[in-house]
Amino acid sequence: MATQVAPVPGADPTGVLNRYALPKVAMVLIAAAAFVGTLLSTAVGHDAMGLGAAVARYVLLMGLATAGGGLLWAWTVVMPAALQMGQPAADRYALRQWAAFRRLERGAFAAAAAGLAALSPAYWLAPGVGRGGERLVLALAVAALALWAYTLRGRPAPSPAAAGRAAAGALSVVALLLLSVGALQVGYGAPLLRAELAWRALHLAGFAAWFGGAVWNVGIAVRCARQDLTVAVVRTAHVQLARFRRIVRVAFPLLVVTGLLQVWQHGGLTEAALAGSFDHLAAVKLGVAALLVVVFISCPLWHACSPIAGICDPGDLPGGRPGGGPAARH
Ligand code: HEM
Repeated sequence: MATQVAPVPGADPTGVLNRYALPKVAMVLIAAAAFVGTLLSTAVGHDAMGLGAAVARYVLLMGLATAGGGLLWAWTVVMPAALQMGQPAADRYALRQWAAFRRLERGAFAAAAAGLAALSPAYWLAPGVGRGGERLVLALAVAALALWAYTLRGRPAPSPAAAGRAAAGALSVVALLLLSVGALQVGYGAPLLRAELAWRALHLAGFAAWFGGAVWNVGIAVRCARQDLTVAVVRTAHVQLARFRRIVRVAFPLLVVTGLLQVWQHGGLTEAALAGSFDHLAAVKLGVAALLVVVFISCPLWHACSPIAGICDPGDLPGGRPGGGPAARH
């Protein structure tokens, strides 16, 4: 019979004001940074389209990040962690998470489709240089959306390996959609395929990888672990978390560097530029990024990455660390 693992004594996983809220705080901060980002790209930046368009683009990007980052998680974090553990409980945990994610992905699809539908007329009719190219990109985005809808019709996966393959396939479609949305309304009065497109594409990729993973971590991993709280499941969840931290270590610097490159592209951090709202908002983003660093460092130090003992550090498990080895480095 599998060993049951009790929640950390004294933890209040459903409350708001405890240290286990830190991962949720990080998720809210990333979402806030993204909103400031869509204000920058759509409301106050080049080719300003107004607040309504910025909100629609935000809904679209949040849907794409939830789905794209989640699919990346499923493919590179969740299924490999289950395969690495090689235990039936770990496989069942992975498949429970996959089923929960697919339900969430349908909501993400609805948000993305609504956002793109709201923005399409403006993108289609917008005047300016390079618009012919943008119409082509818009058509590509609509085609990718239709393909994505097709991937959502899939039946439940029979094994983690099959779920991993399904996730990789769907991810390629969502990534194409995200890149096409990134190429829409780039403005700068420039034709397509310029450096700013690359910065924005990398910025969006970093955002999606991080935000989608954070949603999975907060909304799916812990809830599905609670449905079968065994040592094997907790260890699998720990392996997932360790793999996710590697993604964050790439996504975060990528966001800061490509963010600063976009500021520079827009006019640089000159005295004159700093007087404008574009640079004020960019400064707000740097502040949010600094807060995220604090959360990212505090979480493992404080064993606050999860309300379930052992997910943050296997040393917290009743039997201690497997094999008495050193703690996983965070
Ligand atoms: C901390 C995490 C961050 C997240 C989650 C994030 C997310 C985003 C998102 C979603 C957009 C909208 C892109 C679009 O509409 O296509 C954006 C735009 C932007 N971000 Fe960030 N960002 C972050 C950090 C930064 C940092 C540190 C900077 C540097 C100051 C920065 C500068 C920018 C700029 C300048 C834009 C507008 C780009 C454009 O007009 O094309 N971001 N960001």
